[in-house]
Amino acid sequence: MAEMDLTDLRPGNALRIENPALIPAARYYDEEFYRLECERLWPKAWQMACRLEQIPNVGDWIEYSNVGKSVIVVRTKDGVKAHQNHCRHRGVPIAGGEGNAEGASAHGNCAKSGFICPFHGWRWNMEGECTFVYGRHLFDEELLQKDELALRPVRVETWGGCAFINHDAEAPSLRESLGPVLDRLEAHGMSKLRSEWWFATVLPANWKVAMEAFMEGYHVMKTHPQLQHAQPSLYNARYGNETGGLGSLLNPNLTVRQNVCEALDSMELLSEGMAGLVHGKEVEIARSLAEAELPKDPQTGMMAWYGLVCQAITEKLRERGEDVPDLVQVMQEHPVEAVEFLFPHYFLLTYFTSMSSYRVRPLGPETCLFEIWSLTHYPEGEEPEPLREPTMLPFDSRDFPMIPRQDYSNIPIQQKGLHSEGLDVLRLSREREGLISNYQRLIDAYIAGEPGARLAAANRMLGGNFDGPILDLGLECGSS
Ligand code: FES
Ligand SMILES: [Fe+2]
Repeated sequence: MAEMDLTDLRPGNALRIENPALIPAARYYDEEFYRLECERLWPKAWQMACRLEQIPNVGDWIEYSNVGKSVIVVRTKDGVKAHQNHCRHRGVPIAGGEGNAEGASAHGNCAKSGFICPFHGWRWNMEGECTFVYGRHLFDEELLQKDELALRPVRVETWGGCAFINHDAEAPSLRESLGPVLDRLEAHGMSKLRSEWWFATVLPANWKVAMEAFMEGYHVMKTHPQLQHAQPSLYNARYGNETGGLGSLLNPNLTVRQNVCEALDSMELLSEGMAGLVHGKEVEIARSLAEAELPKDPQTGMMAWYGLVCQAITEKLRERGEDVPDLVQVMQEHPVEAVEFLFPHYFLLTYFTSMSSYRVRPLGPETCLFEIWSLTHYPEGEEPEPLREPTMLPFDSRDFPMIPRQDYSNIPIQQKGLHSEGLDVLRLSREREGLISNYQRLIDAYIAGEPGARLAAANRMLGGNFDGPILDLGLECGSS
């Protein structure tokens, strides 16, 4: 009998997207779909594993685990390396080992003692070389070959003050996978940012539900009404119903001065609500320009005001010793969207020189670990002690800033609603919720095993796609 090709028996993706504007609801809870993501998406994608400030000294390491795969990221004398976190003897994790139990992020320094397996005490140095086997003579010599005992390396690349890992030796590089969005964020000073705070929470929702809550601004009017109240002209122009008379970018009935007040109120709310997104120190500088001399025409006046604010923030923060970019220049030459996504599970929000960054990891089909960092610049020598682990909070904690708390209030209830009888698909706006579809169809393409170069080309199209349209990603799968 001819040998059977087992790959033909791989189950297909029964929940594949056929119409890009319709997302099958079961993709957010189906166990089989979750298993396909674990097997075919996560092991092939670049994952933000840690911030480099978490491992400042030689020998500092951190465990990054996701969907059952644990990796040690370590700073060596020759740069950052990553190893699979298992003992070459009988598989026990040699560092941390709690897996991705809620919020666990083990860390330490291995410069003196190396990594020691807790079971029988074998040891490795930070380079991954085995340095000690207790009772060597008890083992066959061929089992103890140097290469056999070395920790299995994991691909790692550093960018933007972070280490990214990939389990796939064949995957295109980080840069090839994400493209120009990396340059744009770098121009905004990404790699010079430091953590001001880092919170984590467990959300009772599929990881994609949590990610997608940030892929459009269309939810602002109902979820964050205070933002719309502060700057109604902006939100009405972007999402409002033109025929209802709400459509101009700037309310012609408002003077430049009134528009400036709206913008300041909005910044203040974003700053209170999201810290790094607009930093308090930036709002303060903007406020000092509330009375600046401006052209009377609201449109030109506001453009001029934003220019003055960018210039003043750059100058004032540089005077304090912060290595911030020239905002006037980067905003013209390297504009970024309000939210920029690095597929699959990391995204950044920025306005001036500071940023909020988010990472979401699945803990199961209907639970995820959700982290937020507030990132900003500090004068050299005045950086805070690096944060090695997040502060864990319940998702409804009052300690979360108001805006994420408002987002969290929708995420768990949406997860419940997805199970409703008769809800087969979610309906997307082709114009404004396209990123959700584009993301989901890229996941399908990973599951279908499309070639790495094609996945990377599609991935590069997601930069700047926040609030954007459904795109033809050039994929075999779901590109109709
Ligand atoms: S399992 Fe690690 S030393 Fe035995
Ligand atoms: Fe939101």
